[in-house]
Amino acid sequence: MAQTLSFLHLLDTLQNFMRDRQLIKITLSKKRHKNSGLQNIFIKPILIKGIESFSTVLRFQTKDITKNLTADDILSLIKNTLSEKMILRHCDIFTTSNHIQAIMNKDGNAVTAITHQNKSINQITVSLGHNITKNRLIDPSNVTSRVYLKELGLIDNVEQIIPSMQHKYKQINKYLEILKPYIDKLRPKSQEALIYDMGSGKGYLSFVLADYCLQNNLKKIDVKGVEIRQNLVDQSNNIALLSKISNLTFETGSISDYFKKQIFLDGIVALHACDTATDEAIYMGIKNDASLIVVAPCCHRQIRKNILENMDKTNHSFLKHINKHGILLEREAEYITDTIRALLLEIQGYKVKVMEFINLENTPKNILIIATKLRLNKVSKKDTEKLMADLISIKNHFGISEHYLEELLKIKQ
Ligand SMILES: C[S@@+](CC[C@H](N)C(=O)[O-])C[C@H]1O[C@@H](n2cnc3c(N)ncnc32)[C@H](O)[C@@H]1O
Repeated sequence: MAQTLSFLHLLDTLQNFMRDRQLIKITLSKKRHKNSGLQNIFIKPILIKGIESFSTVLRFQTKDITKNLTADDILSLIKNTLSEKMILRHCDIFTTSNHIQAIMNKDGNAVTAITHQNKSINQITVSLGHNITKNRLIDPSNVTSRVYLKELGLIDNVEQIIPSMQHKYKQINKYLEILKPYIDKLRPKSQEALIYDMGSGKGYLSFVLADYCLQNNLKKIDVKGVEIRQNLVDQSNNIALLSKISNLTFETGSISDYFKKQIFLDGIVALHACDTATDEAIYMGIKNDASLIVVAPCCHRQIRKNILENMDKTNHSFLKHINKHGILLEREAEYITDTIRALLLEIQGYKVKVMEFINLENTPKNILIIATKLRLNKVSKKDTEKLMADLISIKNHFGISEHYLEELLKIKQ
């Protein structure tokens, strides 16, 4: 129902929503004058060190200015923008039960207000509550990030995370949170660094990585996504252009086309690239002397067959009690494959960390292997020999004749 209210009445109503903690967000929009620089204002309640505040984004044509303001500051800002200076005309107030659309009159002293009560607003409450407590690295209201987040289907028109995509948003934030210290410390071979994302899929991770490098890094770091599916590559290149992420490009190809070549690069990431594609990505990094290699393995088929074939030849007949159960065999193949990958990386002079990427409720493929190249003098021949001996013991114990990454590394020697 539409009703006409005085502007002061609207401010009072707003003040009550803020006081009663019913406010979800406010959006000011619709410029009165074509050449006004200010386009929108977005306001959201947040908690900073336990103190209530309001995160406020002033959106201009070419930049965003973000401030944290008090409730009084917010009321003054709204008064100034809608009534005194009359820069914007619309004010959308989202509360826990209503959405009030207020349209200012020509004099800036009265509004036509339409109140909607609908369930979808309540859904926003839930996701916003989440946003308030967790300070994520990827900000959906950032001028660059919001373009690709929207195009990749993670946020809606009002920059809220789409409920069904919360898990993906959480995953890409976690990924960036883990990678951030490694990217910050990356020692590029030249003035411009290059990181390959092998099997980039829809490009979620390439986008957040390139966006982070563009916005936060003093060094110039380019990101190149490689994906076998042409349609995804075309789509990702278009989104990169739209988002103006100039340090990001995508190429069509198979990892096997790349790992045989000598390529100038500084880092390799490969998340959930299928089966041995992960080994090819690791090999590509080692061969090209990458200072950072990060992989989240996917399925582990290669040695599963090998374990079964050789089971009776090992001295460990007890293994049959593991191997007769499909799921246990799968887990065994997974942890042995990743242990061998980690060992081979250490043998090649990398410091390796294996960690949980994101909790199991989101994906069972939750192991992340992070390898950073050690300086040459830090790896002694004795250390390498010991690692080699351990590798042979593990393989003998589980009846593995050859691991694919090991096979690839022989080509290098
Ligand atoms: C499970 S998806 C992961 C995508 C992305 N890395 C992510 O984590 O969001 C794996 C992607 O790798 C691609 N892929 C699989 N094998 C590949 C190969 N050998 N070369 C290039 N891309 C490959 C698939 O087409 C798919 O898009």
